[in-house]
Amino acid sequence: MNRKKTLEICRDLIVPYPEVKIADNTHVLSKEYSALTHKIDQLRDASLPSSVFRTIIEEITELEIIEATRNFKLEEYEVETPICKMVAHRIAGKKMVLAPIMRAGLGMEPAVKRVFPQSRTGHIGLYRDEVTFEPVEYFYKMPKNAEEREIFILDPMLATGGSADSAISKLKSMGCDGRNINFICIIAAPQGVDLLQKKHPEVSLYIGTVDLGLNKNNYIVPGLGDAGDRIFGTK
Ligand code: PRP
Ligand code: URA
Repeated sequence: MNRKKTLEICRDLIVPYPEVKIADNTHVLSKEYSALTHKIDQLRDASLPSSVFRTIIEEITELEIIEATRNFKLEEYEVETPICKMVAHRIAGKKMVLAPIMRAGLGMEPAVKRVFPQSRTGHIGLYRDEVTFEPVEYFYKMPKNAEEREIFILDPMLATGGSADSAISKLKSMGCDGRNINFICIIAAPQGVDLLQKKHPEVSLYIGTVDLGLNKNNYIVPGLGDAGDRIFGTK
């Protein structure tokens, strides 16, 4: 996105908010990968069919999860290639837990499963009340011993940050250490980044891009609209 030119177009929609300083463990990935900018901007097109939208969500998520796990510890094991024996590497430790926030996070989960087929999946059901914009929990089910594992919360959109804050707080209240929690999203608003950095500074954030702001209905501007509706074709 050309921020300057886009701001000229949609300035009147944006609720003013102070500039947010990006913390060390907040990673804005489109700054490093042109492919991410390319794909995220494709998603914004309102005329995209739901099937194509879902495919691009998965492509972006695959790129993000590889970045989010770049420093995972490896362990050695022996394998025999057609040519000779060798000492190979695989990811060490307990299997990771994916925690998609329903509904939209479900659109990201298959991509992570392709990269890490052994990962476990928990589900966090939250919706944003249309009047108060507060998150309402309607489902929570995590795999056994989630508190001993690295957790990746998945949700394409971080707007006010209320839903992500609620999901992280819930995991912490169930015994998970914030240092083992990672939050992966595709588009964030400055307000959501600010809230998570202040309330959960130890949680690592992996963000595709930070957009210009929120409108008066707390939708991200320019954003991509309602991610859940676009993934599931409900509007
Ligand atoms: C969307 C999105 C996030 C939340 C972000 O879900 O997927 O979970 O809104 O907004 P916030 O940062 O202001 O909390 P929504 O509540 O629309 O539910 P859905 O995925 O079922 O459509
Ligand atoms: N949830 C969405 O799906 N989109 C937004 O822009 C904000 C919240």
